[in-house]
Amino acid sequence: MKIGIMGGSGLYEIEGFNFIGEEKVLTDWGEPSDTYRHFTFGGVDFYFLNRHGRKHDMPPHSVNYRANIAGFKKLGIERMLAFTAVGGIKGVKPGDVVIPDNAIDHTSGRAHTFYDRGLIHHIDFTAPFCPELRAMLNSCAGAASVPVKDGGTYICTNGPRLETAAEIRYFDIIGADIVGMTLFPEAPLAREMEICYANTSVITNYAAGTTENKLTTDEVVETMKGSMDKIRSIVTKLPEYYSVDRECACQDALAGTKISK
Ligand code: HPA
Repeated sequence: MKIGIMGGSGLYEIEGFNFIGEEKVLTDWGEPSDTYRHFTFGGVDFYFLNRHGRKHDMPPHSVNYRANIAGFKKLGIERMLAFTAVGGIKGVKPGDVVIPDNAIDHTSGRAHTFYDRGLIHHIDFTAPFCPELRAMLNSCAGAASVPVKDGGTYICTNGPRLETAAEIRYFDIIGADIVGMTLFPEAPLAREMEICYANTSVITNYAAGTTENKLTTDEVVETMKGSMDKIRSIVTKLPEYYSVDRECACQDALAGTKISK
C-alpha cells in the first residue's frame, strides 16, 4: 500500500514514521521539486515530496507540477494527498482545517496538462477531488479528534503576490471559500495520470481585505507551524482507514476522453 504526500510549507516528514530512503526520480517532464522521501508506518509506504523544494525556493508559479506528478506515477503511487496553506475568504478562521470538495482555477501560464503533444484528452473534472480519499481524510480527522470543515471551494491564484481586496470580494461572489496558489494544475495533472487526489488546507490568514491587518508571510508561516500537529495526526491515522482497493472513477479517468485520432 503506497500513498503520496505532497507537502507545502512545512510537511516534510512525521515523527515516528520509519525513514527508508530518498528516491531521486527523473521524468519525461523534467526534474521534480525534490527527492521523494520514503517512509513506512502502520504497513503503509508513504512518499513525501516537498512541492516548493527543500529550501522552499520554488514559488508556486514556477513549480514543475508535471514532473512532480509524473514522479509519483513512476513510483507506483495511485493515491496522493496534497497539503496546502490558504487564506480564508469566508466561514473559516486562521488555524482551521478544510477538506475542500470543489475548486476554481484562476491561474495562467502554467504547464497544466500532460496531453499537449499530439494526444488530446478532455478529462472529466466535475468533482476535482477523489471522493474515497476525501472520505478517508474525514474519517482520519474524526479519529484524530481534529475538527475539519468538510467541503468548500478552493480558488487558485497565480501568485506569488497576495490578492487585492477587490479580487477577494470577487472570489467570494463567485463561490470561493479559501484561496491558495498551488492546487492548479496539480489536481488535474493527477487526474490525467489516474491518481486519486484530495486536498487538506490549513487556513493561515484571513484573505486580503477581510481583515484590517496587513498580511505577512511571517503570519502564514507561524500559523502553519502551529497547525502542523493537526495535519500530522490526520496523516498518522491513515493506515487504519486506508482501503486497499480503489472503487472510485479516478483509476479510469482517461477512459473515453481521447478526442484525437
Ligand atoms: N492567498 C493566496 N495564497 C495563500 C494565502 C492567501 O491569502 N495564504 C496562504 N496561501
